[in-house]
Amino acid sequence: GSSSVPHKTLLPEGIRPGTVLKIQGIVPEKANSFYVNLLCSEGEDADAALHFNPRLDTAEVVFNSKQRGSWGTEERGSGVPFRRGVPFEVLLIATDEGFKAVVGNSLYYVFDYRILPVHVRLMEVGGDVELDLVKIL
Ligand code: GAL
Repeated sequence: GSSSVPHKTLLPEGIRPGTVLKIQGIVPEKANSFYVNLLCSEGEDADAALHFNPRLDTAEVVFNSKQRGSWGTEERGSGVPFRRGVPFEVLLIATDEGFKAVVGNSLYYVFDYRILPVHVRLMEVGGDVELDLVKIL
């Protein structure tokens, strides 16, 4: 990880369909994995409405939620649209049904809501990533 992470953005009013979370960065050459968590509080064992977890070491991208300290059922996108040493842009878009993950110019995956976006209070980006931009649109 770099000194810029974990990066935390407070979302005191939650997010709603139409909210776009934009993340630009670069995957370091020696990256194992990084994550974007949309958390429902600032505490240690916060529920996660979304855990978005590109894993370069195992060549998979895992999506999950966490409730009362327990991970839910993992979902995976197909293929890994990230490469070590290469810049990326991810948009996490709250829609009516779920979180849409757009990587570059392509829709990568839709993670249906288990926890509604109105409950989100914090976006946290961490792990092996160098961030250039985090923006709420
Ligand atoms: C676990 C991992 C967590 C999280 C979770 C998602 O195996 O330790 O960091 O990625 O999977 O289901």
